[in-house]
Amino acid sequence: MCGIVGYIGYRKAAPTIFGCLKALEYRGYDSAGIATSHDGRITVKRDVGKIAEVHKKHDLEDLEGHAGIGHTRWATHGAPSQLNAHPLCDCTGRLAIVHNGVIENYMEIKHELLRKGHKFKSETDTEVAVHLIEENLKHGAGRKQASFEEAVRKAVARFRGNYAFAVLKAGEDKLVLARNGSPLVIGFGNPLSASGKGPHSRSAENEGNEMFAASDVPALLSHTRDFAFMEDGDLVVIDRRGARFEHEGRPIKRKRMHVSWTAKMAQKEGYPHFTIKEINEQILSIPAALRVDVGKAAKLMRGARHIHVIGCGTSYHACLVFRHLLARLAGREAEAWVASEYKEGAVVGPGTLVVAVSQSGETIDTMLAVKHARAHGAKVVAITNVVGSSLARGSDANIYIGAGPEVGVVATKTFTSQVAVLTKLALAVAGKKLAINGFSKKIKTVLALAPKMKEIAHSLRTTNDYFFIGRGLAAPVAMEGALKLKEIAYVHAEAYPAGELKHGPLSLIADGVPVIAIAPASGETHHKMLGNIKECKARGGKIMALSDSPHLLEEGKWKVAMPPVSEELSPLLYIIPLQLLAYYSCLERGHDPDKPRNLAKSVTVE
Ligand code: F6R
Repeated sequence: MCGIVGYIGYRKAAPTIFGCLKALEYRGYDSAGIATSHDGRITVKRDVGKIAEVHKKHDLEDLEGHAGIGHTRWATHGAPSQLNAHPLCDCTGRLAIVHNGVIENYMEIKHELLRKGHKFKSETDTEVAVHLIEENLKHGAGRKQASFEEAVRKAVARFRGNYAFAVLKAGEDKLVLARNGSPLVIGFGNPLSASGKGPHSRSAENEGNEMFAASDVPALLSHTRDFAFMEDGDLVVIDRRGARFEHEGRPIKRKRMHVSWTAKMAQKEGYPHFTIKEINEQILSIPAALRVDVGKAAKLMRGARHIHVIGCGTSYHACLVFRHLLARLAGREAEAWVASEYKEGAVVGPGTLVVAVSQSGETIDTMLAVKHARAHGAKVVAITNVVGSSLARGSDANIYIGAGPEVGVVATKTFTSQVAVLTKLALAVAGKKLAINGFSKKIKTVLALAPKMKEIAHSLRTTNDYFFIGRGLAAPVAMEGALKLKEIAYVHAEAYPAGELKHGPLSLIADGVPVIAIAPASGETHHKMLGNIKECKARGGKIMALSDSPHLLEEGKWKVAMPPVSEELSPLLYIIPLQLLAYYSCLERGHDPDKPRNLAKSVTVE
């Protein structure tokens, strides 16, 4: 969703912000802009389109000043347009704001401000924030003008909804930031070296420190690995000296953390796309996740009366794998919930353990479900990939899946790392150990299927309807495979537990419809899969068989021969050819796999 960057320091702000915005592109957006403050004035450049297009039109780096804010906008209120793009200014042009999230009560505030004579230029909810700050500046204590911080503090106190703001004011050498529900991190930059021999040479005009703010850690990795994470209700002022945090009006200290991710990890390193880089990285990320310590979470789970496992999209599919494994391995029942449905449907109370799965650790639906569960006395185990993420900070036990930065919008390596950690957790609850000897070799064998999957994607390049089927642990794998294809190849793909076909969808299997059958021989149900495959073939379906059983492979028009694997580890291997199929199908259709239309990496609005 929207991405925010803020900078103040000794460098020129615009090129610095421009670079950081490019590193945030993966969040998904439709317009971009930068504002800087210089010589007591604010200048804004913004437009609809990708950063490179906006830059081509407006030269985003050509703005004077050492303080600024930047934004990538994912439209919610108001279509993608130049007028709705951020940064947005007040009536005087002396304030500029960037915003992520939704101000739910913006209409009521807008009417009030219109009555006071404010002129609005955009259709956004955001614009009320900047006018309200402008209004608040006029009314400080006594007859005085309010300070910049005071005006922002007073404004955010009026807002309902989820937001992160960065605000810039002409003539003030600082940025004011506020957070409620949408992520914002503060980055500590490199001070100038006294000798002038450090990374940046000293000059009288711009000596000192530098500070950053951003929606996400990867945006700032080329400048810093030292962060402090804002909490909901925090207001932060950054200037060249550092950051001052306050929480609900009171000064507070927030821990500074060093992250292990490097800028290099978030680069393509010779691959044409992040998506294929991240698919290939599974050779290392899966074994690493299988080594993660899950002891504390397993203990909490053993003591829990009820287990709920929640997530969205791909993370939800990992939850489904877990539910199945926990039942089979530990004989324990877990309810799996799509996080956005949880509040309305789940019965939760003390004695419930919620396992919240989210690679970003910022997904609003998951965060709100967790908040609801905590309010009803539940304990929470968070499974995330991002150190310091909101979900990780608010949990009783926290498991980092350690997949490294995932820049491609669609989840690939984080899915398998989630599944690996959850598999370990299910085994730990059952008091069993995982046998992983030789598993890396199997991952390598499956990654080597890339040319085959490319060939299949080519032969299906004009096909727009797909079915994915599987039983048991292969059913969520089928769902994840179909989701990948929908997300980046923009084709219609449905996934069913294979036994469900004859309860309805079989009517859609006609001549030439591809049916992707996920059928590891280790599953107890693979004989039944044979029957389901035959049903489809009898109606003209073209089978793509993924299996290590020669009998099942024989049924396929396309045969994807898999290495033999234990049932519990099968989802980790069987998803890889499906990720490759989606990647090559996307390329066949001329799309960009890293930035699928309408989608965002971190979904921070409900
Ligand atoms: C799919 C995908 C999304 C996310 C979902 C949850 O490729 O990326 O479906 O899985 O938005 O995101 P997280 O895991 O960050 O909570």
